[in-house]
Amino acid sequence: MTQAPLLTPPLIVLGLETSCDETAAAVLRLEADGRAIVLAEHIASQTDEHQLYGGVVPEIAARAHVERIDGLVRLAMTEAGVAWDDLSGVAATAGPGLIGGVMVGLSAAKGIALATGKPLVAVNHLEGHALSPRLGAPLAFPYLLLLVSGGHCQFLSVEGLGRYRRMGSTIDDAAGEAFDKTAKLLGLGVPGGPLVEREAAKGDAEAIDLPRPLLERPGLDMSFSGLKTAVRRAAEDAPLTAQRRADICASFQLAVADILSARSARAMEMFADVHDGKRSFVVAGGVAANKTLRARLEGEARRAGFDFLAPPMRWCTDNAAMIALAGAERLRAGLVDGLDVGARARWPLDDASAPAYGGGKKGAKA
Ligand code: KG4
Ligand code: ZN
Repeated sequence: MTQAPLLTPPLIVLGLETSCDETAAAVLRLEADGRAIVLAEHIASQTDEHQLYGGVVPEIAARAHVERIDGLVRLAMTEAGVAWDDLSGVAATAGPGLIGGVMVGLSAAKGIALATGKPLVAVNHLEGHALSPRLGAPLAFPYLLLLVSGGHCQFLSVEGLGRYRRMGSTIDDAAGEAFDKTAKLLGLGVPGGPLVEREAAKGDAEAIDLPRPLLERPGLDMSFSGLKTAVRRAAEDAPLTAQRRADICASFQLAVADILSARSARAMEMFADVHDGKRSFVVAGGVAANKTLRARLEGEARRAGFDFLAPPMRWCTDNAAMIALAGAERLRAGLVDGLDVGARARWPLDDASAPAYGGGKKGAKA
């Protein structure tokens, strides 16, 4: 990353997202007053490609990104009515994520930057999620964010552009991963989260006693892998009738909601200790679609005196508008990257925090 001259809005930015199994392109205009207007966004999901394997296959994902990215960029630019020359810059997710996919989007952005002479911004995917609540409505810094998806589960204090403090995270699986694994164990298929939620509606959430790991510990660490083992045991312990399956789903969903709402209450306390005035609690990521969870988190926010915000679903899950927004904010601050910038499988948002997990040779996972 290098410091370039600050750019004055309005800024028009093309954003690309390819870090997991969604290929996405968006064109966004950042106004002088800070409003972000999404001029066009297109996304292609790969659910069908991966269905057969019960999970995302990195090589298949990378190939699908290659096949789709050019068409999506063309569609987004045409729909936005924006010419290459109108762009202030081009932004792409440069990590963390599945490296083959990240390379596809980043290389496409480099190609466009090289051909048009526009600046390139290599965006941390987590920064995209952290800023995503500002896409739909004005939201002032600082705010507390729970990012809860298939790949991430963490609390972030979002204090300004480039200023994120990771307050706590899962020490093993992400919550969405636990939903997906539960669905797989019970033979429900993909996508796991919505299918588990649908089954849960027919079950008794008190029927099966499942653990809530780490809740007795101070701090904000969370763990979901023990829950998965307990679900497997519950599935094997008795004949898996339709009712038992629904009971397991309901009990599992309640355990996740208990863990996340207890931790959110604690996170709001910690945030309120440091920040005065109007306080906002935002939840983003695919798991934020879960109605039981949303209702519980909203209740916790009300009790703690926080405003509660959940961005529209299309900006909660992986999307390119959030990458374009992060890119535009960075351009405005003069933060650009050279064409030699690399894709990163791992890239913690908050380099100052100790890695919460996966802190081996390659660095923290997220
Ligand atoms: O944000 P996202 O689209 O992708 C990333 O992981 O970055 O999140 C996908 C995750 C999946 O694990 C999916 O099972 C979960 O979000 N999910 C849900 C629901 N809808 C999606 N989990 C629980 N309940 C839902 N309704
Ligand atoms: Zn994501």
